Amino acid sequence: MPLDPATLRPLPSTPALSGVLETLAFFRDPDFARSRFERYGDVYETSLLGQRTVFIRGSQAIGDLFAQGDAVAGWWPDSVRELLGPLSLANRNGADHKARRRVVGQLFASAALKRYRPTIVALVDALSQELLSSEAPVALVPKLRRFAFRVIASTVLGLDPVDREALFVDFETWCQGLFSLPFALPGSPFARARQARQRLLQRLATVLKTAQAASAAGAPLAAGGLDLLAGGLDEAGLPLGDDDVAEQLLLLLFAGYETTASALSCLLLTLLQHPAELAWLQEELDSLSWPPEEGDAGAATDALRAPRLDAVVKEVMRLTPPVGGFFRRTREPIALAGVLVPADRVVQVSIAASQRHGADPEDLARFRPQRHLEGDTATTLLPYGGGERVCLGKALAELEIRLLAVGLLQRITLTLEPDQDLTLKVIPSPSPADGLRVRACPWARAAAPVGS
Ligand code: HEM
Repeated sequence: MPLDPATLRPLPSTPALSGVLETLAFFRDPDFARSRFERYGDVYETSLLGQRTVFIRGSQAIGDLFAQGDAVAGWWPDSVRELLGPLSLANRNGADHKARRRVVGQLFASAALKRYRPTIVALVDALSQELLSSEAPVALVPKLRRFAFRVIASTVLGLDPVDREALFVDFETWCQGLFSLPFALPGSPFARARQARQRLLQRLATVLKTAQAASAAGAPLAAGGLDLLAGGLDEAGLPLGDDDVAEQLLLLLFAGYETTASALSCLLLTLLQHPAELAWLQEELDSLSWPPEEGDAGAATDALRAPRLDAVVKEVMRLTPPVGGFFRRTREPIALAGVLVPADRVVQVSIAASQRHGADPEDLARFRPQRHLEGDTATTLLPYGGGERVCLGKALAELEIRLLAVGLLQRITLTLEPDQDLTLKVIPSPSPADGLRVRACPWARAAAPVGS
């Protein structure tokens, strides 16, 4: 429908011109977006390193954005765009984008997740053993990062431990370049990341060829999901080239690693800081089998069978979303919550600010998982984004987070070490500053259930 500018409000703007100070504040001030929303409203514009950027929050503005999918395109900072590559679905739009989502989405269908489940259970068991075998305090964050990487590399890619660890080294180098300045000066993080990208793509191409050969030879189903991609077609109905698929796999490693590792760290940190809620959750975890029995396999991810676990995960993702915001670029003028946003603006959807915004901000600042069992429909919950680009790996992330919560917390008591900084560093994803140091010991069941 054509816009009628006369009925729309002009876009409020901060006085920032060059955006240098705004950019510094953006990286340093955790309250950056919220304080400006309070001053300018739910849709406002500022300048970040010379780029006019429109920040939005709240269900009205975000709903309006999703409803005008054809008027916007995906957008990433230059460093991310280049390191993901021109074929990546994250850098594509329209039919190109949809076709690749259809192909890659097969890796996260329910039949695929069922296949991945035993691998994830085995990785949770290995992590539990590792924690219990250490007498000294352990930093959980690096362990959880490794775990998150192993899950994607072993499930989606079906890699054995040797290939997996070889890939990890290059992958970390590549990740370090993602949010750096995109100048390939020799030795800079960005230059190193570009070289690592080439090696990663070569490795992924080899992995793909091996999976295709095994599938063509009629080998039994692998633990990984790559055979599911066989026959994937592009927008013209032609099979996707191997280089195309390899770039989509690189995107999956990127999209699923840092995010899930952050969700796991924030889940354990929050529960350790809220012992009453941990005890409340543990009552429920006690009723779930581990390893999950055949008929019980879906219990951890079923909100009806494990409602407290579901509520706890939702509440952690609400207060500390792994992805604080995502971007679009306007191709033409659009209206967001009654405000006119011109063409060619980068729009940043603020997930973090939206999820804490509402009638009772004091209550929304508190960790209170019970709110999700009270039929609270007013709170905005958007940790996986929405619309045409909603997270493709949501089902895998949810499965892995819930299995880790059951497998670990049912059998291990974690105790926070004193004298550590538990504040969250927020870029690229929230993570406790000192790595979340804990002691682990086997969980001693209370004589009587807590709360009975
Ligand atoms: C807790 C974990 C995760 C969170 C919070 C998360 C969140 C998000 C968000 C907010 C987006 C952007 C949506 C948008 O632009 O509208 C996204 C995109 C995406 N995610 Fe996730 N994600 C998680 C885990 C994963 C995993 C495990 C995978 C796959 C292994 C994955 C694959 C993707 C892909 C491929 C996209 C791009 C979709 C597109 O552009 O069409 N994510 N995710």
